[in-house]
Amino acid sequence: MSLKHNQIVGKTGCFVKEKLRGAEAGHDWWHIDRVRRTAVNIAKEEDVDMLVIELGALLHDIADPKFHGGDEEIGPKTASDFLKLMDVDRTVIEHIDNIIRNISFKNSFDKKSFSSLEMEIIQDADRLDAIGAIGIARTFNYGGFKGSEIYNPDIEAIEFKSKEDYKKSNGPTINHFYEKLLLLKDKMNTKKGKEIAKKRHKYMLDYLDQFYQEWEGN
Ligand code: ADP
Ligand code: NI
Repeated sequence: MSLKHNQIVGKTGCFVKEKLRGAEAGHDWWHIDRVRRTAVNIAKEEDVDMLVIELGALLHDIADPKFHGGDEEIGPKTASDFLKLMDVDRTVIEHIDNIIRNISFKNSFDKKSFSSLEMEIIQDADRLDAIGAIGIARTFNYGGFKGSEIYNPDIEAIEFKSKEDYKKSNGPTINHFYEKLLLLKDKMNTKKGKEIAKKRHKYMLDYLDQFYQEWEGN
């Protein structure tokens, strides 16, 4: 790993941390930091470009459209502009642009338009942060941020078929487990990602079990 690699990653980390100051706690700098660590952990066992892994993880949520009035261009543009200033290779910048455009769960409803092993690893790391103990914490935080109910037995979970419907969803937070979180285990790309997801998935099932028992007064 060259000094240049560490310098670029370090400066990118500072840039992202500053940009995400005050972000909703489920999508803040600490989410990015966890995704980077998990991505590096998965990538250690694969033959990949580590610079793309680290920069892609750091920049994947640089301007999430759901916090920017639905604008899907601002994230890739912010990342590319920054990386150009840092004199990063054009091929690396293009790769990261593609990762940011394609990584999101909501885009998994559309036909895949880009894929690479680096993107699959970062996507696994991002999805792992959406499940397990941390996933539960993030989900309730985001539900609170949106003003959702925790649970409402009269409102059933929806099986979303399109990105547009998914984005409009405004059910209780517990429904989000069925609408997204419990589906992620079977969407993992890498062997290591699948292994970690299995454990975190089981933890969520146990959590839901306990939740319903307590709801009934037991
Ligand atoms: P992505 O960032 O991959 O497009 P989302 O933005 O849909 O995925 O979700 C990221 C995280 O935000 C989820 O894992 C969850 O913790 C939280 N979240 C998203 N939508 C909801 C929702 N309707 N209710 C509660 N939490 C949500
Ligand atoms: Ni993310």
